[in-house]
Amino acid sequence: MNNLLAGKRGIIFGALDEKSIAWQVALKAHEQGAIFTLTNAPVALRMGEINKLAEQCNTIVIPADATLIEDLEKLVDQSVSHLGGKIDFILHSIGMSPNVRKGKTYTDLNYDWLMKTLDISAISFHKLLQTLHKKDAINEWGSILALTYIAAQRAFPGYGDMADAKATLESIVRSFGLYYGNAKKVRVNSVSQSPTVTTAGAGIKGFDAFLGFAEKMSPLGNAPSEACANYCITLFSDLTKYVTMQNLYHDGGFSNMGVSEYVMEKFGAEQ
Ligand SMILES: NC(=O)c1ccc[n+]([C@@H]2O[C@H](COP(=O)([O-])OP(=O)(O)OC[C@H]3O[C@@H](n4cnc5c(N)ncnc54)[C@H](O)[C@@H]3O)[C@@H](O)[C@H]2O)c1
Repeated sequence: MNNLLAGKRGIIFGALDEKSIAWQVALKAHEQGAIFTLTNAPVALRMGEINKLAEQCNTIVIPADATLIEDLEKLVDQSVSHLGGKIDFILHSIGMSPNVRKGKTYTDLNYDWLMKTLDISAISFHKLLQTLHKKDAINEWGSILALTYIAAQRAFPGYGDMADAKATLESIVRSFGLYYGNAKKVRVNSVSQSPTVTTAGAGIKGFDAFLGFAEKMSPLGNAPSEACANYCITLFSDLTKYVTMQNLYHDGGFSNMGVSEYVMEKFGAEQ
């Protein structure tokens, strides 16, 4: 299908490098006829990688730390003015835990860092939504997406306080979805993606085992980031207008599995 996003304006957060899920979403959104701005934290922009993406998508990069309201306000104002009208879609593709990054286990958390994890990975989504809502910056039937992981529902060793952040993020999806739906018919959802090899993903201890286990547990195998991007495009499009307040699994079936034949055979052999 072509031009699913023709005439739509967006803002895409979180493209750090080619491996980023947001990078893939930006490429597909461009391919499908959307115009959008790109944004990331000033410190992430120093790497300079994102400028290549901006060139490819014929757009600009606006620095914004997603935990700072002033930055979000400027980002929204500049995006509306650059794109020539209100926004139709937003991708929040942001996650970071200082505890996970610095090897602090879940039973020995640094609480200042926990607050940072929650602020960056979950509360930033509320800050973004509230900024958009106050400015009335989203068109009716607009679509706002956050990326999440199944550690919000199930326990995974090594995911640490990011699990709490994702649970909070998914709660904000539901709660803000109610208000934004009532007020402006704006839909708010999260996509719960398979483990994917990216900078954020590789920061998780034992990530290779996560990746391999999920691959063998999922009937369709792990979903690649390009496929995740395609799914996001459908959710930004008018083909999914009545989907809101949902956490949508994009995981090759992993979330509904008990055990796979592969795992059965492996443990059978060990008995
Ligand atoms: N990689 C996986 O296995 C996986 C699985 C499910 C969900 N996700 C989620 O997908 C999203 C994107 O992650 P990714 O895997 O593409 O990794 P990534 O490292 O490429 O993206 C994370 C992004 O968050 C940005 N960021 C961090 N702090 C920020 C701040 N204060 N303000 C603005 N941006 C900030 C980073 O600069 C980076 O671009 C995250 O929410 C992540 O939790 C990832």
